[in-house]
Amino acid sequence: MKHKIALEMVKAKLPEKRYKHSKRVAETAVKMAEIFKGDKNKCFLAGILHDFSKYDELGEMYQYVTKYKLDPELLSYKSAVLHGPIAAVKMREEYRVEDEEIYQAIMNHTSGRSHMSLNEKIIYVADYIEPKRSQPGVEAIRSLIFDDRNLDVAVYEITKANMQHLLSKDQPIYHKTLECLNYYNMIKE
Ligand SMILES: [Fe+2]
Ligand SMILES: [Fe+2]
Repeated sequence: MKHKIALEMVKAKLPEKRYKHSKRVAETAVKMAEIFKGDKNKCFLAGILHDFSKYDELGEMYQYVTKYKLDPELLSYKSAVLHGPIAAVKMREEYRVEDEEIYQAIMNHTSGRSHMSLNEKIIYVADYIEPKRSQPGVEAIRSLIFDDRNLDVAVYEITKANMQHLLSKDQPIYHKTLECLNYYNMIKE
């Protein structure tokens, strides 16, 4: 998919605020691709498209889980986890975005997973650190990326912070998030 088409599609579908966030994630991901020798084209596209299903109706999302035989456990979760997998499957099935790495990057940006590819990790982190993000601890994660250049530690710290946030609100932990935490805890230096 051409970048211009992706930008137009997302601009037409999402509220202005979310469109601008998507652009910042794409730009941050491209910057990271330069540092970590990722694929700038894949990073830009996945960044633009990652939140495509952010405001899709929950009932429709569950229909996609069933129709495209996604992980049935997703049926126990809400948009916060689901909008990644649903955007990924919509891009593949309805918009002919056929690249497997873009698919996985969009799919797993809401949960992380173990054994992520380079470009997948870039999207996961770029979503968390794009310039307008101001959550506590974000500056330390930016430093891990732009100073220490340690992507795996950044993935670990983001997943840990996400999990702590979910636990503090008594929210369930999707299995891929726990697997992500344990895997990057094990391999980080
Ligand atoms: Fe998202
Ligand atoms: Fe996002």
